[in-house]
Amino acid sequence: MHHILSKPPTLISIDGAAATGKSSTARALAKELKFLHVDTGAHFRIVCFHLLAKGIDPSDRMALEAGLDKFSTVTEIEGLSAILTINEQSLDDSALRTPEINNAVSKFASAASVRDFLLNYQRSLTTFAQEHHFEGMVVEGRDIGTVVFPKAHLKIFLHADEATRIARRETDGQEDPISQRDALDSTRKIAPLTCPEDAFKINTSLHSLEQVVTLLKEKVGNL
Ligand code: DC
Repeated sequence: MHHILSKPPTLISIDGAAATGKSSTARALAKELKFLHVDTGAHFRIVCFHLLAKGIDPSDRMALEAGLDKFSTVTEIEGLSAILTINEQSLDDSALRTPEINNAVSKFASAASVRDFLLNYQRSLTTFAQEHHFEGMVVEGRDIGTVVFPKAHLKIFLHADEATRIARRETDGQEDPISQRDALDSTRKIAPLTCPEDAFKINTSLHSLEQVVTLLKEKVGNL
């Protein structure tokens, strides 16, 4: 049995489009603060992996619901990151960043049943963080400050010009149609990528990772 701390974790949301620096920033900030790091993009990717493996089409609502019904989820901790596993299968980063998943993930992420499934799971992570004695969580994604945790203590929105973002993915050696993903992610009906009104915005084309993390650490210190 885990001892439940009475104080709920401090929540920091980091939203933004693909390759705006969310993961590097979220990881580095979590490390500085010793907070739990949660990458919700990885959640959509692992769900996409399992649904693709079952041959399910993202537009087939019945098949999606039936597929999701068979998922059993477990959260593991690796370093400071909470990792979602489905049906006891751990997948490393390279398995979740294939061209096939890069191409399909936004289509699955626009389905109501997939979003509902992950919204419940993501909100449950505040209890997980408390049980594991984390004082806070840094949660990255597209709808964290708007939908998942609208009462987050600090909301951050990262952006960068498209040329910088495309160059970043090329440096990573990834085949990733970021413009198409961004278009789908920003225009979908449910929980589209938008900047929360009360977010602190940073253009990551203009600042180094160290500068961004220093600035954010300061903001957390003032909470
Ligand atoms: O952050 P990422 O590129 O790994 O995210 C993969 C996809 O998951 C992204 O194109 C859209 C979806 N996603 C989402 O819809 N909502 C989130 N909070 C996070 C990711």
